[in-house]
Amino acid sequence: MKTALVTGSSGLIGSEAVAFLDERGFRVIGLDNNMRRDFFGPDGDTTWNLQRLTKATSHFEPRDVDVRDRDTILRSFAEERPDLVVHCAAQPSHDLAASRPFDDFEVNAVGTLNLLEGARQSCPESPFVFLSTNKVYGDAPNELELVELETRYDYADPAYADGIDESMRIDATMHSLFGASKVAADVLVQEYGRYFGMPTVCFRGGCLTGPHHSGAELHGFLAYLARALRDVQTYRIYGYKGKQVRDNIHSYDVCTAMMAFYEAPRVAAVYNLGGGRANSISVLEAIEELEGRFGRPLQREYVDEPRRGDHICYISDLGRLHADYPGWEVTISLDEILDQLAELAAPATT
Ligand SMILES: NC(=O)c1ccc[n+]([C@@H]2O[C@H](COP(=O)([O-])OP(=O)(O)OC[C@H]3O[C@@H](n4cnc5c(N)ncnc54)[C@H](O)[C@@H]3O)[C@@H](O)[C@H]2O)c1
Repeated sequence: MKTALVTGSSGLIGSEAVAFLDERGFRVIGLDNNMRRDFFGPDGDTTWNLQRLTKATSHFEPRDVDVRDRDTILRSFAEERPDLVVHCAAQPSHDLAASRPFDDFEVNAVGTLNLLEGARQSCPESPFVFLSTNKVYGDAPNELELVELETRYDYADPAYADGIDESMRIDATMHSLFGASKVAADVLVQEYGRYFGMPTVCFRGGCLTGPHHSGAELHGFLAYLARALRDVQTYRIYGYKGKQVRDNIHSYDVCTAMMAFYEAPRVAAVYNLGGGRANSISVLEAIEELEGRFGRPLQREYVDEPRRGDHICYISDLGRLHADYPGWEVTISLDEILDQLAELAAPATT
């Protein structure tokens, strides 16, 4: 039986990875200390997801381990020598990072270094999958010329019809402290590939979403929006008239990309990973879609100041990933994602 080590295993992507790998016959060791609750308060508590996952899986071994705990991480790698590492544990919000800079950097950058070093010492041949973010590009995507449409912004230059590719620069731009700590991790993951020849990949995520998100105001926009509608709470739109665009990918499609890499790994790979244009939506459009599904209007408030480091229009160009892994594609449409969120937001399960 192959062993996979998944960090952030109670979070959105980590939990999907656990279930996905468990179903495919892996023994899965999950590391998560529920730090999302510490970051985001009760909305961020992932205990419900851990409980759900424990029932739904057969070979899942959750462990309450902090990725900052270097000794335990190195020891876990030495004892388990996993065949696959999927690193999803993170402080994921750029807003929060400014108030907790040490925690943000220690979890995102130093935690990643601990895992890379554990892998190098104990299982350097095993594919190492890192969930990076489009925030490594900082504000640079906002420098592209945009057109303002009725409900969204879009790129003015047809060269960007498919979105932003991996040649977008990552320096000389404002990232937020979160983006900066993720850049540090992203570059380290690439370096362990290039310098040590390890099979590492950075998936620079667009908006990763799905029904198992403990959506909080500061992170998890669609899940949080669905919850605001369910609980009749006020949803705050921050700047850009609500016309800011994100491309959304279901956590299942993130896992199939991860699996494609596991089956045919490369060294120091970097891919943008989002839903692409077909799965792109603005905040205003998402509100309208979800209001329709819930059959009631959202209580909303407009804050005339965008979040710092927020992208105005971000669509992931999936060309490089399609070229290297032609069998991979987005299989879950935006409509299905919204349906799932609306269904799951209905009972008080999240
Ligand atoms: N969700 C998105 O829209 C999105 C977009 C781009 C990139 N990403 C990246 O994908 C990865 C997964 O994101 P997600 O949405 O699943 O986040 P999430 O917050 O749902 O999950 C992260 C998990 O990591 C755990 N964690 C946090 N600090 C920890 C620590 N010190 N030790 C052990 N566990 C810890 C949390 O408790 C949580 O369960 C992150 O690296 C994030 O930056 C996410």
